[in-house]
Amino acid sequence: MVSTKVILVLGARPQFIKSAPVIRAILTKHAHIKLSIVHSGQHYDPQMSGIFLRELKIPKPVANLEAGSGSHAAQTATIMRRLEDTILKINPDVVLVPGDTNTTLAASLTAAKLGVPVAHIEAGLRSGDFTMPEEINRKLTDHCSTLLFAPTRTAVRNLRREGLRRGVHLTGDTMVDALRQALPFVKRTEDLTLAGFELQAGSYVMVTLHRPSNVDDAPRLRQIVLALRKVARKLPVIFPVHPRTKHRLANLKATQLSHHAALSITSPRGYIETLALLKNASCLLTDSGGMQKEAFLLHIPCITLRPNTEWPETLTAKANRLITNPESIPSTVLACAIDRALKQRIRRLSNPFGPGNASLKIAEILQENF
Ligand code: UD1
Repeated sequence: MVSTKVILVLGARPQFIKSAPVIRAILTKHAHIKLSIVHSGQHYDPQMSGIFLRELKIPKPVANLEAGSGSHAAQTATIMRRLEDTILKINPDVVLVPGDTNTTLAASLTAAKLGVPVAHIEAGLRSGDFTMPEEINRKLTDHCSTLLFAPTRTAVRNLRREGLRRGVHLTGDTMVDALRQALPFVKRTEDLTLAGFELQAGSYVMVTLHRPSNVDDAPRLRQIVLALRKVARKLPVIFPVHPRTKHRLANLKATQLSHHAALSITSPRGYIETLALLKNASCLLTDSGGMQKEAFLLHIPCITLRPNTEWPETLTAKANRLITNPESIPSTVLACAIDRALKQRIRRLSNPFGPGNASLKIAEILQENF
């Protein structure tokens, strides 16, 4: 049997998580797929990249394009220029791209322009907000993809609405696979993680914020930090900060602003520690896409500081609530954190993201198609 050559391009934190189970499925079940992993270098800090590659046991990439940070155009263009050489050298049958980052768009455009088929993991998500860089990235990626791996029925419908029917497969979400595979490790370490932060299960709030719309606007970020301080007066808050947010907080001279014994602003955590903190939180305040879904899967109430979401399924039964005004953070978060009935309702909701076999399906479809 002739082998299928697949290049998987990743480079930002959520892409490592989404890809890990697919890599595992290919390596363990599909000996005829020759997989080459390329790291764009979009995320480069050890806490944003190295720790995830190690924890998720992602094999060493064949190339690191070292694109680093920059404007959207500069980052996308650097990845495209450097990736082109790698694609020409490897001559793959297909380029596999997860998610919606600048790495995703750069890789799909480069492959499509070279006439190499693109396969998109997490196709069909839409927030309807074209001011979000991710919405631009995911929409354009879908339109240059030959295979579209949709995580949910909503995603399939979104693709149909844009005239995309061929090559669409409802696979389920690979983040469910990643979460299921990680849970035994989380269970083994969660007590230690909580003890390390002096937190008690079920009685603290977890916060993650990194969207430019929340953290790049200094007055808004200031309001958010003040709101978190109010929350911390009632319940401990753990806030692992993304480097973007860290830089913005430093500009704001927020150390004094955020000073409160129960507001713990810490460096980004690895995957297992993040899941341990989330699993035991009384609620999550976030603007991340992936964490809205992880909260849903772990039955943790979520409040999303955004006007929209690409995961509308999580809004069912108020498992996830959208808010935009930082002033409403303390009342919404505290009410959510003590709402036992809400937690019971979330437990009973059905899971629209699949049973955790998306990666196996994706690997099989790749094998069948190329
Ligand atoms: C990117 C993705 C976003 C994803 C997020 C997850 C795009 C457009 N956005 O956003 O969809 O949710 O990753 O984390 O692709 N920085 C460091 N060290 C790093 C990486 C970044 O210090 O290892 C700092 C730099 O100042 C950089 C800033 O963070 O300018 C933003 O990084 P960038 O990769 O451009 O976007 P993210 O905000 O991480």
